[in-house]
Amino acid sequence: MSSNQSEAKILDGKSLSQNIEKDLALEVQNLHNQGIKVCLCVILVGDNPASTSYVNMKARACKRVGIESKLLHFDETITQKKLLEEIDKLNKDKNINGILVQLPLPRHIEAGKILESVDASKDVDGFNPCNSGKLCANIDSFVPATPLGIINLLKHYNISLEGKEVAIIGASNIVGKPLLLLMLNAGATISICHILTKDLKLHTLKADIVCVGVGKANLLSADMIKENAIIIDIGINKLENGKIVGDVDFENVSKKASYITPVPGGVGPMTISALLQNTIKSAKIQNTISKN
Ligand code: GUN
Repeated sequence: MSSNQSEAKILDGKSLSQNIEKDLALEVQNLHNQGIKVCLCVILVGDNPASTSYVNMKARACKRVGIESKLLHFDETITQKKLLEEIDKLNKDKNINGILVQLPLPRHIEAGKILESVDASKDVDGFNPCNSGKLCANIDSFVPATPLGIINLLKHYNISLEGKEVAIIGASNIVGKPLLLLMLNAGATISICHILTKDLKLHTLKADIVCVGVGKANLLSADMIKENAIIIDIGINKLENGKIVGDVDFENVSKKASYITPVPGGVGPMTISALLQNTIKSAKIQNTISKN
């Protein structure tokens, strides 16, 4: 039986991201006052509804803080060669600070080649191997938005990673792997679990912090966590009744955890504010102002 009588505290990404956006809007204004515009270009290939909705969300967020955003929307039949040419133009365009290629791309396009072609100084998604290599070496770089948002959230709540046991479920290039590196660089000991992991519970039960993002509702149940664990839910799932939920059995896990992110309102908004943060950083780098 659980001895933790109280509900977990909510890691409120929604309200934190609103506060972060206020600060970012001031930074953008400050850059404008110096004659520097901040502009993000988002490339969308095809009409995947989830991608379209994410891209729209990013554009709205840019607008809220005064960042200009441009959308290049291509038909899903675009060739890899043509897409590389378009990215090359953006790399050379002095009016574009950040470039983001919305994933997934159609199968006939090699995503790795495309991501590698984005100029590392404009790579606000941090997916160019130059930036992921720097992250691995613990050198300042563009860090992918979701892991960066999670680190920002933990910092805000004074949750230290030093000496902590962490289990990450999901080993994607977008979230799991960069999150692993960020947490490792911050002094945590990490288990990274994936589709071939035989016994998830073995890893989650010993974890002080469990991060889960694989797109499977209720994957993390209360019996899989230890008392007072901190739970970061990176999943987004739409149930048949239209309800949006994460990968965590929130109702039961929140009774045993000490802190938990809600879905929606947790990691999602923190991802968006981290992207804005990276876009401002790209404008500063290109205008050689201090990155801090
Ligand atoms: N598709 C799902 N997540 C992401 C992301 O963080 N960046 C991009 N570019 N595409 C995604």
